Amino acid sequence: MTDQTRRTFLKEAALGTAAILAFPPSTVLGANDRVRVGMIGVGDRGGELLKQVRAVPGVELVAMADVYRRRRDEVKNSVPGIQTFDDHRRVLEMKDVDAVIVASPLHTHARHFLDTLAAGKDLYAEKTMTWSIPEAEKCLAAAKDSGRIVQIGLQYQSSGALTDTRQWIQNGWLGKVTHVESWMSRNTPHGKGQWVRPVPSDCTAQNVNWSAFLNGRPDRPFDPFKLINWRLFWEFAGGNCAENMVHQLAWIISVLDLPLPSAAYMSGGVFSEKDGREVPDTIAVTLDFPKDIVVTWQSTFSNKHYELGDRILGSDGTVEHHFDEAVQYWPEKVNRPGGEATRGTTHDQDHMRNWIECVRSRSQPNAPAEIGYRSAIAVHMANLSYKNKRRITLEEAKAVVPEF
Ligand SMILES: NC(=O)c1ccc[n+]([C@@H]2O[C@H](COP(=O)([O-])OP(=O)(O)OC[C@H]3O[C@@H](n4cnc5c(N)ncnc54)[C@H](O)[C@@H]3O)[C@@H](O)[C@H]2O)c1
Repeated sequence: MTDQTRRTFLKEAALGTAAILAFPPSTVLGANDRVRVGMIGVGDRGGELLKQVRAVPGVELVAMADVYRRRRDEVKNSVPGIQTFDDHRRVLEMKDVDAVIVASPLHTHARHFLDTLAAGKDLYAEKTMTWSIPEAEKCLAAAKDSGRIVQIGLQYQSSGALTDTRQWIQNGWLGKVTHVESWMSRNTPHGKGQWVRPVPSDCTAQNVNWSAFLNGRPDRPFDPFKLINWRLFWEFAGGNCAENMVHQLAWIISVLDLPLPSAAYMSGGVFSEKDGREVPDTIAVTLDFPKDIVVTWQSTFSNKHYELGDRILGSDGTVEHHFDEAVQYWPEKVNRPGGEATRGTTHDQDHMRNWIECVRSRSQPNAPAEIGYRSAIAVHMANLSYKNKRRITLEEAKAVVPEF
């Protein structure tokens, strides 16, 4: 059998007929097969993911799509022979692409997610999984039906801190947890706005597939500032909840095995970055979860003294987690008098390598669509509460029809 027929044969054997009809055949790879990867959206984050995936043995980067010519030229210079396109569908049509990495702006995530699975490819999709709740429902359903391997770019799901904390909770060392407090803070020099990027001089209508960027948003003349600084505007972005809270929340949801929040409240505003942006720079979120747990997340862009972290507060113990540091545990002496303070020892896994290994083994990666979904719903509930200036329940949030 040729490589291609063997791949197709194995794929057909592994999936039922219904799945094949819904999701056209692509590939199932053996443990030693090369994984041929395509990318959609290779800007800042995509550039990092490109380096990460090329560092995994047995991976070949064969194609990429980006609406902006500059990004395609940059990739062509660093990956000789790669095929480049300004339309993501050209990558998905390629028979010799097994798996696709999506690192496009938030408002295009669901389109790229669904199209990639419909083309029968495995998927690494950057967080937040989607821009809206209805999109999150569709993407979760598609991931479940597709039989494809889906990893969400929530890399803290591959952290040793997650393994250690889960173990401490399973050991009963925390007792009853009723509150998790988390925070994330940044600062920039006076006069320099957080997230604001300069617009390169070659960012012109001739060099950008503008309608592909708009992805169904109301048509308008080319706007280079919005292409480069999409993060600042609600129609393309989800603010700092989608950029950063989602990482911490996914981690908290995973260690405590939390379902969807039952309600959310978010206050704040554009208090420090008064540059015309729509998304708030100062945020306080409260999420009520079933199981008697409240999670709070607080964020500012004008003071980074406490940087970022999470504290899980239980009747018998406390976990403090700062990203990129060993996670720590302290017993509550009133309830665990013999308990010892402990530091986590488990090493982090490489999140990208975990995805590629799962593409080969067909096992579930560390950040499957389910955690992408739960964390995305929590993000969207918080943002809906902020926009409506009131507490919002899960049922109310699910009934909202998103508007651009
Ligand atoms: N996991 C992490 O730690 C992490 C870190 C940073 C960013 N991200 C996520 O990565 C994504 C991208 O962020 P970024 O900072 O790289 O943004 P970016 O603007 O630098 O890059 C996005 C790229 O997508 C291209 N693009 C826009 N519309 C497209 C379309 N329809 N088809 C193909 N390409 C298109 C743009 O030209 C650009 O090159 C966001 O979802 C962000 O939240 C994740």
